[in-house]
Amino acid sequence: MPAIKILVIPGSLRTGSLNARLAAVAVAELARLDVDVTKISLGDFPLPIYDGDLESASGVPKPAISLKRMISAHHGVLIVTPEYNASLPPLLKNAIDWVSRVQDTGETPGKVYRETPFAIAAASNGKLGGTRCLQALRLVLSSCRAMVVPNQLALSFADEAYDDMERLKHAGDLAALQAMLRQLVDVAQQMK
Ligand SMILES: Cc1cc2nc3c(=O)[nH]c(=O)nc-3n(C[C@H](O)[C@H](O)[C@H](O)COP(=O)(O)O)c2cc1C
Repeated sequence: MPAIKILVIPGSLRTGSLNARLAAVAVAELARLDVDVTKISLGDFPLPIYDGDLESASGVPKPAISLKRMISAHHGVLIVTPEYNASLPPLLKNAIDWVSRVQDTGETPGKVYRETPFAIAAASNGKLGGTRCLQALRLVLSSCRAMVVPNQLALSFADEAYDDMERLKHAGDLAALQAMLRQLVDVAQQMK
């Protein structure tokens, strides 16, 4: 049976990003579940801020089409994102918005969301660990009619969460990550 393919998308481009670090741990854990994992950077899909006039004049930008097709080529997606002012960062929201406008031949816009399960995680140095961002992101993805698995991970005090091997040092954090990833892989298998 072909392996399940999971795409991991960090919501930050920042050097030393807490969320990129968490995404790297998730990649290692997914590999242990015998999953084919691809991690991308949204920096490789540069997009203007969504503007309906721009879309009318020039269509959906090629990087949005490429990102949509990248998602389509996988059975599930993990997003690991910072919280900005209790919500999701514009880099991520803009990418989600543009992808929702892509219409490949024979498809209605947004089909990729309806066919792909998502898991969501956040890392922050704060006590809440990005919980409010996850609420907002769950709402956004659900409104695109994506299936978002119930388990999620909000990693609080994230700069103190790792040992010197870049592993999660608290058993509870690791267990929450693993439970969420198992849910994503199970749902991806069912929706395949
Ligand atoms: C504009 C802005 C708003 C922020 N708002 C929040 C917030 O609401 N909650 C929070 O926990 N951290 C907030 N932060 C702090 C981020 O969690 C922190 O910068 C984090 O390191 C960003 O993620 P990254 O390390 O993956 O780039 C904010 C940071 C910025 C730049």
